[in-house]
Amino acid sequence: MDFQELGTSGVQIPDIGLGTWKYTGGAEPFRRAVELGAGFIDTAEGYRNEEEVGKALEGIRDKVFLATKVSPGNLHEKDLLKAADQSLKKLNVDVIDLYQIHWPNDEIPIAETMGAMESLVDAGKVRFIGVSNFFVGQMQEAQDSLANARIVTNQVRYSLIDRSIESALLAYCQEQGVTVIAYSPLATGLGKLSDKDRTKAVETVAANTGKSQAQVALNWCLRQPRVMVIPKANSATHVEDDCGASGWRLSDSDLAILDAAYPR
Ligand SMILES: NC(=O)c1ccc[n+]([C@@H]2O[C@H](COP(=O)([O-])OP(=O)(O)OC[C@H]3O[C@@H](n4cnc5c(N)ncnc54)[C@H](OP(=O)(O)O)[C@@H]3O)[C@@H](O)[C@H]2O)c1
Repeated sequence: MDFQELGTSGVQIPDIGLGTWKYTGGAEPFRRAVELGAGFIDTAEGYRNEEEVGKALEGIRDKVFLATKVSPGNLHEKDLLKAADQSLKKLNVDVIDLYQIHWPNDEIPIAETMGAMESLVDAGKVRFIGVSNFFVGQMQEAQDSLANARIVTNQVRYSLIDRSIESALLAYCQEQGVTVIAYSPLATGLGKLSDKDRTKAVETVAANTGKSQAQVALNWCLRQPRVMVIPKANSATHVEDDCGASGWRLSDSDLAILDAAYPR
């Protein structure tokens, strides 16, 4: 497993983490992920599974970088502070490693929200602040509202079939030293990748490299500096396969095959 810096924090995080939206795998896939170095778990209050995630973390909490999110309806200060306390309780942890704003909410002043996020850091309840589904302008406003803390991550959709962040957001994050956490990096399932491509490019590249199709799709995201991926996998077998996406690079010719099949 390769590691990379979380934002400009100095903390190292793995290239591969585990998403938990609609996760039903229990403790075993988490334990396998930790054994393979992918000790990064992403959940959200909106997934309504923080209690299950907390249970699955028993005995391995200190080996996991734990990320959760506050829902866009809870971005007023009072609501956000309450939501964070509830997440801490449900996850059964003393601190959230990465607390992310799940979606922006234009109806609530971002300065109020970021002030509350920063107070959670000051209180020791949260280590790092992240955002999700924020455009460049929204990230700038959010960062400008923070007194001392830095936004370390933006969690956004990124896969072979959705390259929209390549138009501006990805470059902005790379310049600013913000880690991009790529969600739905398998396009929510390999079938979605093949639906969009009659040339069978992922299969071809998998055969060329001796890797699985999932490994090709995830490694394609990882070719970009400052990007990590959080596939959701319900089984230890899928976790093992996904972890094999780190530690190697696609050749230029294989990248060209994928680029032709899934243009920007
Ligand atoms: N911030 C946001 O707004 C937002 C939005 C969407 C998602 N997310 C996060 O991103 C995570 C991942 O995205 P996602 O769940 O939408 O989709 P995804 O990770 O792109 O795809 C998940 C699907 O891929 C399958 N899969 C995993 N590893 C595989 C492998 N090695 N071979 C074949 N199939 C494999 C899974 O099957 P099994 O489950 O059977 O293993 C599941 O059906 C979410 O769980 C969530 O944490 C965030």
